[in-house]
Amino acid sequence: MTSTAPIGVFDSGLGGISVARQIARDMPNEHVLYFGDSANAPYGTKTPEQVRDLSFAIVEHFVKQGVKAVVIACNTATSAAVNDLREAYEIPIIGMEPALKIACDRGDVPSDPHHIPQRVIVAATPLTLRERKFAKLMDRFDSNNEIYKEPCPDLVEIVESGRLGDHDLVMRTLHGYFDQYDLDRIDSVVLGCTHFVFYRDYFRELLPERAAIIDGNEGTVRHLGVVLESLGKLAPEDAVGRVDLANSDPSERIAALSRELLES
Ligand code: DGL
Repeated sequence: MTSTAPIGVFDSGLGGISVARQIARDMPNEHVLYFGDSANAPYGTKTPEQVRDLSFAIVEHFVKQGVKAVVIACNTATSAAVNDLREAYEIPIIGMEPALKIACDRGDVPSDPHHIPQRVIVAATPLTLRERKFAKLMDRFDSNNEIYKEPCPDLVEIVESGRLGDHDLVMRTLHGYFDQYDLDRIDSVVLGCTHFVFYRDYFRELLPERAAIIDGNEGTVRHLGVVLESLGKLAPEDAVGRVDLANSDPSERIAALSRELLES
């Protein structure tokens, strides 16, 4: 059994386009309805209640459009709303969390029976790093790794304002957040916000070669595939997928920026 119904993917703004792009690459038969809430971005400096209300409104709209699943392409909205959304709706709701497990698992190497403690910086929004969901995730790993939480709200603003191409501004901002660390000792940086995935090349420039840059996009899309397959709801193999972009900010600036990021 297959389903040609679309998949709803949303974020506070443009960051989740990095996830929609990953779906288009890895599941090319699927039809994605992307909704960016740029009129209300950023979510990362709001209260959990505000983010929950905004997330419910978006999912309600997706359900009316007949989606077969929702991907919360936003770590912040996942922290604030995923449990309540799963209780309220029957369709699968796929959430995202900073890929800390992947970073810490790098300390388990076949040639060594002992875990090699990993030094990991988690870059995310202030709300993601403050929420209980992240505290629980950190509890699983911080006894045998060194984990540093780094809230980076300005990186969201830079994407939303279309200044991602401003090399000097971006590097200055990254140095402002990360110069406090001895980066030569860091094993990996986790990009725990979907906006930050667009900064991968800049992080590469900032970090020594030995440090890995890890995001959760591929894992999320793999998980989406497994869930849809288990329900017999993958799109048929002869379907031609596409991504339809919508945004609560109706300006042509946001529409153009969204297309540019999807094609990047
Ligand atoms: N893209 C979002 C995330 O993954 C949040 C950005 C925001 O603060 O609005 O956390």
